[in-house]
Amino acid sequence: MINERLPKIWYGGDYNPEQWDQEIWSEDERMFKLAGIDVATLNVFSWALNQPSEDTYDFAWLDEQMDRLHASGVKVCLATSTGAHPAWMARKYPDIRRVDSQGRKRAFGGRHNSCPNSPTYRKYSAQLAGKLAERYKDHPALLIWHVSNEYGGYCYCENCATQFREWLKERYGNLDALNKAWNTRFWGHTFYDWEEIVPASELSEEWGGRTNFQGISLDYRRFMSESLLDCYKLEYDELKRHTPDIPVTTNLMGFYPELDYFKWAKHMDVVSWDNYPSLDTPVSFTAMTHDLMRGLKSGQPFMLMEQTPSQQNWQAYNSLKRPGVMRLWSYQAVARGADTVMFFQLRRSIGACEKYHGAVIEHVGHEHTRVFRECAELGRELVQLGDQLLDGRSRAKVAIVYDWENRWAIDLSSGPTVALDYVKEVHKYYDALFQLHVQVDMIGVEEDLSGYDIVIAPVLYMVKPGYASKVEQFVANGGTFLTTFFSGIVNETDIVTTGGYPGELRKVMGIWAEEIDALFPDQHNRIVMKSEWGELKDSYECGILCDLIHSEGAEVLAEYGQDFYQGMPVLTVNKFGQGKAYYVASSPDKAFLQGLLANICEEKGVKPLLAVPEGVETSERVKNGTSYLFLLNHNPEPASVDIGPEARQELLSDSMVSSSVTVPGRGVLILVQRLA
Ligand code: GLA
Ligand code: ZN
Repeated sequence: MINERLPKIWYGGDYNPEQWDQEIWSEDERMFKLAGIDVATLNVFSWALNQPSEDTYDFAWLDEQMDRLHASGVKVCLATSTGAHPAWMARKYPDIRRVDSQGRKRAFGGRHNSCPNSPTYRKYSAQLAGKLAERYKDHPALLIWHVSNEYGGYCYCENCATQFREWLKERYGNLDALNKAWNTRFWGHTFYDWEEIVPASELSEEWGGRTNFQGISLDYRRFMSESLLDCYKLEYDELKRHTPDIPVTTNLMGFYPELDYFKWAKHMDVVSWDNYPSLDTPVSFTAMTHDLMRGLKSGQPFMLMEQTPSQQNWQAYNSLKRPGVMRLWSYQAVARGADTVMFFQLRRSIGACEKYHGAVIEHVGHEHTRVFRECAELGRELVQLGDQLLDGRSRAKVAIVYDWENRWAIDLSSGPTVALDYVKEVHKYYDALFQLHVQVDMIGVEEDLSGYDIVIAPVLYMVKPGYASKVEQFVANGGTFLTTFFSGIVNETDIVTTGGYPGELRKVMGIWAEEIDALFPDQHNRIVMKSEWGELKDSYECGILCDLIHSEGAEVLAEYGQDFYQGMPVLTVNKFGQGKAYYVASSPDKAFLQGLLANICEEKGVKPLLAVPEGVETSERVKNGTSYLFLLNHNPEPASVDIGPEARQELLSDSMVSSSVTVPGRGVLILVQRLA
């Protein structure tokens, strides 16, 4: 449980009473009660209020809010407000202002704007966290700490450059090692003095998201992710010094590209994240993101820190969530491991850029709105659910590997194609399993594989030290491993493993990839099955990249259907020890992937959670030997599902159901079953 002070699914969100006058606050209290809101995230962007000048701190406003909320039965997720620095600080201490990738020193403005290596930022952000912790350590409303807000963005200032050099000295020890790791004899880049090294930016190596030197750019990303993490850790330590028992989090952003969240999660007591899909985001993409957030801490439940009750303001087209969708997507989060349902924002602000962002309380100010009614309805249900689902875990037997450094290396790569999008490739595999209703864990490269039957690592371009032997061991012990084209190419500094692709994975895959062809968007090849295999028959389309592979012991299941490499293998399987390793040499169409994964699951005895109609999502949480199976109907019309003859409790309606049950359009059922 995140905090026993609130033993239910927390319900609430970002709340900015400082933007309102007193008479509104009592209205808020009244309406929070009506909506079943029991947690408010305070103080997210109030640094300037808390510290009006260098030597003055003023928490009177916050004292009042904490006490007031507590008195009305609302607990507090207390932010440290270091996500945007005060204007006076930006003026007095220019080091706090970032320099962008084009070398421009930022003026005061915006948010998430502090240089992570600024001595001023580090000093005053940590100090503020310490003061808050000291002040509110015994406050009965305090549930959890929310450090800063959505850390992100990079800085390229002189302080960052200096610290980058220090970081490199730590990592490489001497310049010879660095020159080797970066292959600096290329384009005459040999460094003779640490001072010659500059950040990888658009002024040095990068253009349009690509780079001349992947080694340098990769290290700058690692360094920036760590620099921001160091800022978080400074605050974390201050908070823990005063409140060792209060959990600490910071709100993440799903597949946000710039930070290595697997590294971050190690320093977070609980993962939290902000979920903002748009109307056209595939449901399975959101599901995959929840699963990734759960995977950051090896399956530990996470917080849905923010979602909008209705619409965003920052998308191009800010559609309303259709009736029922807010509830449906809230349960989607819970089904995949969230122990909180929280919004941005509780009351819609009236000025600046978020005034058109949805809120529980809209500009009209009363409760007679569609959005409020839906929020209040959900609030009532979450009260009824109590603590039943808290801490429920997944028991997936299939894992998909995702790695931020691998993503950086692929994104930064000049060649072989601009069309390769790592996250999209990962999603293709996820989506196929999602459509098959097979539960999946999203895992990082440090995760232990032994609990899984099937591990899928799409486009594992970068193979880190020890990973290949981990895969070998997993397969030797009976696991099924699958990887794809453009895998095993480089080591962790992006230096090619010579002797044939897929490098260190070659032995376990039993193949050699001789060449890699890049296809134009309207160009395709075919995957022709050598013989019918389960769901896979005839032929399928593939594209983006085609590895030209030779079997070195692997069995060839399908061949390319055209071009000069017609007849070369495109799908192989290698028996290795007790297990099998599949290689998919190109990016296949949906039908192929679903067939392939259905076959592999069948082969390993991995069963779908339930056979359900299209548009119905399934996900399971298990707690104390009881399975909670969520059926989430994303269709606007009802769906009928056969759950079998055995009667089961349906949690939300608290009724017994069996055989054919109806999931209302955009409705949710939670089926309860004691496990044997
Ligand atoms: C982010 C931020 C919030 C708010 C919302 C709006 O998630 O954390 O402060 O700006 O976006 O969607
Ligand atoms: Zn900087």
